[in-house]
Amino acid sequence: MLREVTATRYITPLREGGSLPGLVEADDLGTYVLKFRGAGQGRKTLVAEVLCGELARRLGLRVPPLVTIELDPVLGLGEPDREVQELLRSSGGANLGMGFLSGALGFDPLAFSVDPREAGRIVWFDALVNNVDRSWRNPNLLMHRGDLWLIDHGATMIWHHNWPGADTSAARAYDAAEHALARFAPDVASAAATLSPLVTEDLLAEVTAEIPDAWLVDEPGFDTPDDLRRAYARPLLARAAVVHQRITGIEEAK
Ligand SMILES: Nc1ncnc2c1ncn2[C@@H]1O[C@H](COP(=O)(O)OP(=O)(O)O)[C@@H](O)[C@H]1O
Ligand SMILES: [Mg+2]
Repeated sequence: MLREVTATRYITPLREGGSLPGLVEADDLGTYVLKFRGAGQGRKTLVAEVLCGELARRLGLRVPPLVTIELDPVLGLGEPDREVQELLRSSGGANLGMGFLSGALGFDPLAFSVDPREAGRIVWFDALVNNVDRSWRNPNLLMHRGDLWLIDHGATMIWHHNWPGADTSAARAYDAAEHALARFAPDVASAAATLSPLVTEDLLAEVTAEIPDAWLVDEPGFDTPDDLRRAYARPLLARAAVVHQRITGIEEAK
């Protein structure tokens, strides 16, 4: 399970992306980007953040620490924006927090360069989890003290929106033509050779165990949170073995 903290101060909304995450301080003195459970896409976005973030971390990619944040909606009473008020009101209990990288810059493919091996690992990972939110328009990558960090894994694993069709959906190709790192000659073949053997049933069990039960209960078709955890692991395990042959839109994928 993720470490649990309690929000002590709501600082400000972050308006860059679409989901209006909030910047908060917590009782461990940390500053976090808080993703609201009550936001439009709801808890599946948070499940995707935890699963993909923790998987990426275990594959050696940089992801800020993830925690669950208890939120007392009273903290937002001073917030003037009605939309934010509504999010705070509907998000009592456990939300997702990501450690705030102070001073980080949004990655700009025209301003920074990335080594083909690192680009390959990130493109391969995004193909594995079917991340549709790492385009050059909206990279969801941060530069922090010279390193590249991955954020925002909410729009991944499209198959979790339709479990009966999950295996079919997860067998599809990944189009990397618009990927933020497509122009850096990503070495997907060597990434696949290194990373694919690491994605085992055990690793996926460890990663899915990090997802709070509260975000997994009452999913139609599943009796227990652990049943749903296994459903998350299955397409990823299958995909890890083959996905490098199903990446389209970049030369190096062949
Ligand atoms: N851990 C972080 N450290 C610093 N800035 C962050 C962090 N997470 C998000 N941000 C900033 O907030 C913006 C929105 O966050 P993001 O997770 O992309 O949410 P969404 O796109 O769903 O609104 C990002 O584009 C980035 O500028
Ligand atoms: Mg984003």
